[in-house]
Amino acid sequence: MAANSMSDFERYSKMGLRRLRGSRWIRELVAENRVSVDQMVQPLFVVDGISRPEAVPGMTGVFRETPDSLLKQIENDLEKGVRKFILFGVPADKREKDFSASFTANQISEIRKRFGKDLFLSVDVCLCSYTAHGHCGVIPPEGDHVDNEASVQALADLALSYAQAGADCVAPSDMMDGRIGAIRTLLDQNKLYSTLVMSYSAKFHSKFYGPFRNAADSAPKSQSLKDRATYQIDPSRMNDAFLSSLRDSEEGADILMVKPGLPYLDVLARLSDQIKKPWAVYEVSGEYAGVEVLAQNGLMSAPAAHLEAWTAFVRAGASIIITYGARNAKDYLSALS
Ligand code: PBG
Repeated sequence: MAANSMSDFERYSKMGLRRLRGSRWIRELVAENRVSVDQMVQPLFVVDGISRPEAVPGMTGVFRETPDSLLKQIENDLEKGVRKFILFGVPADKREKDFSASFTANQISEIRKRFGKDLFLSVDVCLCSYTAHGHCGVIPPEGDHVDNEASVQALADLALSYAQAGADCVAPSDMMDGRIGAIRTLLDQNKLYSTLVMSYSAKFHSKFYGPFRNAADSAPKSQSLKDRATYQIDPSRMNDAFLSSLRDSEEGADILMVKPGLPYLDVLARLSDQIKKPWAVYEVSGEYAGVEVLAQNGLMSAPAAHLEAWTAFVRAGASIIITYGARNAKDYLSALS
């Protein structure tokens, strides 16, 4: 073969790749993954003791709902094609221990009464909206650490109440050791065999949760423990995320999660390849608000940017996308296609 003759591959890669980008029709045919509203979960905040819905700063279209406005919001979301939700209950009564599930459990029962099985309801399980100090677990009187055992017990009790009230899925986001096993055992002892457990298994210690903490009253306020570094995963630690997810899987988690999304796409890609359970990704408040704030400043188009992020999640191995933009996804998809 003459040294300067091109192989088919060389000719193809030199001349051909733009052919498959040439029209919307061919791009649709060769797309390697697609985003659908069917795979999306809409977060909802319901707050005890407020008299009207409150906008969450930076998060267009996201509100702290009253029990009444929550039901209206869900009705609107169902009309927008969203059928899967994750509920965050924010009680007014903050405690150090002996937490009461009743506010959140009542909202779950109301949702069930009103919508029956027309929707899939997951409920976030954590203590950060229940404690005055804002940490995700119980701080004993010494005040210098989050106690694992006491926290797991309290979390399992909340999860049981939510499941009994009608949650399809409980989703612990606290990052204590052993909570998945404790929750699964308690659910099974109460014959709630079909309640799913979605673990926030690879949840990192992230600044991208900023806007959420206003929504859920959950910023850490303790003097001696200023952040969540002693229980959430260090951003540098892929191995910790892997071990945490493997453990949660073995303890009975049905669905695993990476959170946040875009800054941890590598983790999602690697872990979803290594552990063959369904993977959810949580596009957190700071990611969502980031796009919205840029768009409000005329620096990019929000619909296209959201779709790009969601496509990246699916490409990296997520089957479930938890996003504040779920309720707009159908409009975005039809506007852009
Ligand atoms: C806490 C919880 C957090 C989120 C979901 N559950 C925040 C935190 O850990 O501080 C973050 C969600 C978001 O930022 O959108 N249990």
